[in-house]
This record gives sequence, C-alpha cells and structure tokens, in this order.
Amino acid sequence: MAPGVAIHMIVGESLTTAAEAITAPRALRVACASDGCRTIPGRLLESSYLLPAETPMTQDELKLAVAREALRYLVDDAYVGVGTGSTANHFIDELAKYRGRIRGAVASSAKTAERLKACGIALEELNNTGDLPVYIDGADEVTEHGAMIKGGGGALTREKVIAAASRRFVCIVDQSKLVPVLGRFPLPVEVIPMARSYVARELAKLGGQPEWRMGFTTDNGNVILDVRGLSILDPVEMESRINQIPGVVTVGLFARRGADVILVGGEPGVRTITRAS
Ligand code: 5RP
Repeated sequence: MAPGVAIHMIVGESLTTAAEAITAPRALRVACASDGCRTIPGRLLESSYLLPAETPMTQDELKLAVAREALRYLVDDAYVGVGTGSTANHFIDELAKYRGRIRGAVASSAKTAERLKACGIALEELNNTGDLPVYIDGADEVTEHGAMIKGGGGALTREKVIAAASRRFVCIVDQSKLVPVLGRFPLPVEVIPMARSYVARELAKLGGQPEWRMGFTTDNGNVILDVRGLSILDPVEMESRINQIPGVVTVGLFARRGADVILVGGEPGVRTITRAS
C-alpha cells in the first residue's frame, strides 16, 4: 500500500488481505490501514475508498513527500528562501506548521509571497536579510549533478537571485524531473520586451526553436521565450552563452549555481542526492 494512503475499514468474516478485500462482496470487506489489514466481525459500518496495495503514489503525492522532507533543512531562527510552483506550494503549506521556528521567508515571486502571507509566514525582502542559509525550490528538470532547468512558472530571475544569495539550494522534485541530459523541457529565457525578436534570432543560431510565451509578463515586467530543441550537454557553457546575449535578463539554466541537495520523490520513498561541495 502506498505510504500515507489511509484506507478505512469495513467489516468481514475471514478476509485477511487488501486484495481479498477489493474483490470481496461489499459486506465482507476488511479494515485496512498502514499497519495492514484485519477482519472485524459485524455488519457494514461505513463505505470507504479502497485502493489496491500496488497503487503508485500520484505525482502530487510525490511532490508533497519531498516538500515534507525539505523541512529537515530549515535553519532555526533564520530566514528561508522559498521558490515558486506547485512543489514549492506544498512546501509553503508544510512550512506553515513550523512557522514559529523561523524568522520568516524570502519569496521568489508575487504568487509565492501571497501564499506565504496567507499561511501566516512573515515575509522579508532579500535586501534586508543578507545571505540566506537555505533556499528551497522545485525544478522543471534536474540532473544528478544538480544542474537544472527552471522557469516553467516564469519566476526564474528572482529564483536565480535568491539561489545565488543562499548557502544551500535544496531542490525538491518528483522522479519525472530527474533526467540524464537537460533540454527536453523547453528552456525559459526572460527577455526585456524590446529585445524579444533579436534574442529569438540569436537563440535560433544556437540550434533552438524559441517561442514567445504569449500573454505572460514576469513579475519584473518582461517577457519569456521558451526554447525547444536544445540538447544541453554542457549546461555551464550554455548558461554563459545565453546570458551574454544583449536583452536577456536571465536564462532558466541553473548550472553555475546548481542544487546542493536534490530530494527526489519516487517509489518507495524520497531519495536524497547530495552534491560534493
Ligand atoms: C518556477 C519554477 C518551478 O520550480 C518549476 O516550474 C517546477 O514547478 P512545479 O513544482 O509546479 O513542477 O522554476 O519558475
């Protein structure tokens, strides 16, 4: 049974396993919980949602699992940098339970700031905190070496700034994001609006197919080009090359400052990859 899937009960006479319970007539089902199944004689007490033992965790459950694991990296009485996206949102919700332990959080986007505020977590500007002990964020792709593609949510510039100002970057992902080579996910590039077409032509020279993320403006008032078709064999070199194109604000390659710790959610649990520093 997938960890965390609590299945409550119904009654039976002689059923002992979840598999038997699934196929059993409604009135003969067993009580199942994370500690196994047992039979309880009697009448049907309650209907319940019964999952087969081999049911894999959903992507969202995996994101929640890594978000919980990331709490281990919090530093008491300090500020924590918080990323953007659905995985980071799970982290914020979990962080809310421990908000008394930290001084507050530095948000990587307006959306994250809004959620932190709604959870009662004190916000602080990076300008007032100095370097942070830890930054916790998701990624669109990550290699075992800690190089990442980020910016699917469009917050790449502030994410990169906070990552640079943090002593430890903890990347939280479900297993679908762990890749041997970056580039299947379109690479986001934040660009000042008047440079959009010029930068797109330069990106095409590098072998990519840039596409304007229409209708989207970043928190910094810029636009995003999503670049398909790049096979990024040398992420550090590619990050430097794209950064040098005039008009580029930030490329969503995080290789020069990659993740220090990667928490990968999968079956049977969370795997921790720690980069040598
Ligand atoms: C936002 C990001 C996110 O970390 C990235 O898009 C992953 O998002 P999610 O956790 O929703 O899969 O870089 O700019």
